[in-house]
Amino acid sequence: MGKTLIAFYSRRGENYVNGCIRSLEVGNTEVVAEKIKALLPEADVYRIETVRTYSTSYMECIEEAKQELREQARPQMKNPLPSLDEYDTIVLGYPNWWGTMPMVCYTFLETYCFDGKRIIPFCTNEGSGMGSSERFIRKLCPTATVLTGTPIHGAEAKQADAEARRIASMV
Ligand SMILES: Cc1cc2nc3c(=O)[nH]c(=O)nc-3n(C[C@H](O)[C@H](O)[C@H](O)COP(=O)(O)O)c2cc1C
Repeated sequence: MGKTLIAFYSRRGENYVNGCIRSLEVGNTEVVAEKIKALLPEADVYRIETVRTYSTSYMECIEEAKQELREQARPQMKNPLPSLDEYDTIVLGYPNWWGTMPMVCYTFLETYCFDGKRIIPFCTNEGSGMGSSERFIRKLCPTATVLTGTPIHGAEAKQADAEARRIASMV
């Protein structure tokens, strides 16, 4: 069996949590990615980062993200991996932004060859579940096997042990 990569995008700072704006020192998706890593010690972890810094203000960030979605932007990754050749399974975690993935996840999926690889998505969110993200992953990676995604309520990320176990068991 080839190696597993846990790739995730997560933003620290203000976010919408159960109807209130709260500042998160560690993003929800990052919390879940760490839980999955603890269950899969052999897996590598890769944090997807953007060259652009989004505002830590929730209200400003949602506007920045809305504009990127409208423009179908492909934000540049700050720290791209040279290739994904050594991995046969990619666990891909991200927050739901405007009903889909942050646009840098589109950049990530378009940058590498996913031929024959398995993608296991999970998405932290405040009510929109996976949104349309799985559909876009399948569209961007038609030669990969995209497993059914796991939506996780962001406000409950710290308690998402059962979801993390479910995701780890799919690897
Ligand atoms: C720019 C932006 C857009 C968001 N859009 C949605 C949305 O459309 N639906 C939803 O359920 N949650 C939305 N949220 C809430 C996040 O998906 C949720 O708080 C997530 O757990 C944040 O993950 P992170 O801390 O790893 O970045 C949005 C948050 C931000 C910052």
